[in-house]
Amino acid sequence: MNLILMGLPGAGKGTQAERIREAYGIPHISTGDMFRAAVSAGTTLGQEAKRYMDQGALVPDAVTIGIVRERLTEADARNGFLLDGFPRTVPQAEALEAMLRDIGRAIDRVLYIDVPHDILVRRLTGRRICRQCGATYHLEFNPPKNPGVCDRCGGALYQRDDDKPETVETRLHVNREQTAPLLDFYRARRLLAVIDGLGAIDDVFRRLRAAIEKGDR
Ligand code: AP5
Ligand code: MG
Ligand code: ZN
Repeated sequence: MNLILMGLPGAGKGTQAERIREAYGIPHISTGDMFRAAVSAGTTLGQEAKRYMDQGALVPDAVTIGIVRERLTEADARNGFLLDGFPRTVPQAEALEAMLRDIGRAIDRVLYIDVPHDILVRRLTGRRICRQCGATYHLEFNPPKNPGVCDRCGGALYQRDDDKPETVETRLHVNREQTAPLLDFYRARRLLAVIDGLGAIDDVFRRLRAAIEKGDR
C-alpha cells in the first residue's frame, strides 16, 4: 500500500500517521521529521533546511525531492509506505509520480485531512513533542499524564521552533497556497479522499481507515 497523507500544518498528519503505521505495517515517511533530524544532527542538509523552516517557508523542491527519492529506495519502503507532508507542491507530486513509475509502482490513495483555520492555530500553538521518542501531545486536546513528561518513554516534552504564533500564521498561509492545485492534481487522478479532521483523534482514524479500505473516493 502506497499512501499519501496531506493536510495543512496541525491537521493531524503525524498523529494519524503513527496509527496508520501500526495498523498497516508500512513505514511513516515525514519530510518534516527528516529535516528536523538533519537539523539536530547539524548536517549540511539540516543547516539549509533550517533557514526555511524557521521562517515557515517551504524547503526548495530540489532538496526535498532528493531526500524522498533516497528514502524510498530503503528496504523498509519496498512493500509500501505512508508519506506525510510530501508532496506539498505540484512539482513534487510530478517528481514522485515519475520516480514511482520508474520502479513500476504507483500511489494507491491520497488522504487529505481537512481542518478549519482557527482549529489549526489552536492545535499548533498547544502542541508538545517528546525529545526522546517523538510522540506528539497537546496541552489541551491530548495532554500527557504528567505535565512536561512523555507517557510512553518518560522523555522531556518541548515546543517546536516553528510553532510560535508568528511562524504559525506564515506556515498556514504558505501551505494553503500550494494545497488547492495539489488537491486538483490528485482529484484528476481519482486518488483523493477528503477526510473530516474534526473530532477525537480515534474518530478521525476510523474515517481514514474507512477511506483506505473501502476505496472511498
Ligand atoms: P512538517 O513537520 O510536515 O510540518 P507541517 O506540515 O507544518 O505539519 P505539522 O507537523 O505541524 O502538523 P501535523 O499535521 O503533523 O499535525 P500533528 O499530528 O502534529 O514540516 C515542517 C517544515 O518542514 C515545513 O514548514 C517546511 O519548511 C519543511 N517541509 C516539510 N516537508 C516539506 C515539503 N514536502 N516541501 C517543502 N518543505 C517541506 O497535530 C498537531 C497538534 O494537534 C498536536 O498537538 C496533536 O496532539 C493535536 N491533534 C491532532 N489530532 C487532533 C484531534 N483530532 N483533535 C485534537 N487535537 C489533535
Ligand atoms: Mg507533522
Ligand atoms: Zn517519549
